[in-house]
Amino acid sequence: MRILSVFGTRPEAVKMAPVVQELKRMPGVESFVCVTAQHREMLDQVLTLFDIQPDVDLDLMRADQSLAELSARIFQDLDPVLTDLKPDWVLVQGDTTTVAITSLLAYYRRIRVGHVEAGLRTHDKWQPFPEEINRRVAGVAADLHFAPTEWARHNLLREGVPDSAIALTGNPVIDALQVVAKQPQPESVAQIIRQLGIGGSGGGGPVPSMGRGSPGSSTGQRLIMVTAHRRENFGQPLENICAALKELAERGDVEIVYPVHLNPNVQEPVKRLLGNVQHVTLLPPLDYLPMVHLIRRSTLVLTDSGGIQEEAPAFGIPVLVLRAVTERPEGVKAGVLKLVGTDTRLIVRTANRLLDNAGAYAKMAKAVNPFGDGQAAGRIVRSLLNFH
Ligand code: UD1
Repeated sequence: MRILSVFGTRPEAVKMAPVVQELKRMPGVESFVCVTAQHREMLDQVLTLFDIQPDVDLDLMRADQSLAELSARIFQDLDPVLTDLKPDWVLVQGDTTTVAITSLLAYYRRIRVGHVEAGLRTHDKWQPFPEEINRRVAGVAADLHFAPTEWARHNLLREGVPDSAIALTGNPVIDALQVVAKQPQPESVAQIIRQLGIGGSGGGGPVPSMGRGSPGSSTGQRLIMVTAHRRENFGQPLENICAALKELAERGDVEIVYPVHLNPNVQEPVKRLLGNVQHVTLLPPLDYLPMVHLIRRSTLVLTDSGGIQEEAPAFGIPVLVLRAVTERPEGVKAGVLKLVGTDTRLIVRTANRLLDNAGAYAKMAKAVNPFGDGQAAGRIVRSLLNFH
């Protein structure tokens, strides 16, 4: 069986890495990897970390390209790869433009599509934009859907996908996380922790929690990790987020660390509004390994990312989600994610409460893993091979 995995951005690479490794080990499988490189710098470090050498690299990233330009390039440059390699299956992951266009193209070429992390929905076509429609497009084209959770499986069933075309697998993000969390803390992280005077080995939260090591010291600074890059937050919402961070920094007892996504629509406002603020450290995008270790050392995470909503709960780190809706309600239900949107006042109030009230913090700081058990890649590959 010939299987072509296609991905383009950093988070897709993280979640596909365990699957690609599993395919490599499987006798009777010819596994190929094609990267669109929708992200360039941010993708390459994940490929290196997981020792994946793409067979085809389309190198499609251009500075500040539109979704239409990117889509057109994927259609044009990926099509000959499909006709040359003639795979039996194309595997895609998640909800980026790479995923939507690749699944449509595979359909045009009558190649079967497997969709990893299928069935996530907000049921609002504009949030997240354009991911909600991207993943629905992939869902329509897919022959086999790898649902990470029961809730995702239900979404697919409600849309009329037959049960026999859905495999409940867990999310391979937890497989990847387990591998990376076992590696020693990189020196770059130790340096940040030292320089900023972050307290305790568990991040300095008011209350110890499972998975983070020992309780935080009450003397050191507390670390707040931030990421924000979603398209629907460009403009005023992102400015509101920055205003909230500035206000939180004025407390003086926290250190806000924000690795800034390379998208120019993120870089410009964040550097303008937070470039020179005491207790705020802006970093270039971090490699996956240091990112995971910094999350682990945090007291609190503020993010609009999808993957971090899955990763931080695994360490019992409370997450404030900077979005109006989430396609990951499992974390909200488990009590470790809280939706705060992009309202400056609400972000500041909620964060302050968690920082000042040990009881409120303890309620959120529990290690839960609603998204997987670290065995997803094996299940995905087995159900693919057994599918008729
Ligand atoms: C994309 C995905 C989003 C995912 C995110 C993860 C789409 C529509 N969006 O958003 O779902 O959550 O990746 O990070 O597919 N850039 C660089 N270097 C890089 C990466 C990006 O310079 O390594 C710049 C480029 O100018 C690029 C711009 O960022 O044009 C936007 O990148 P793009 O992939 O279109 O969207 P993201 O905002 O990264």
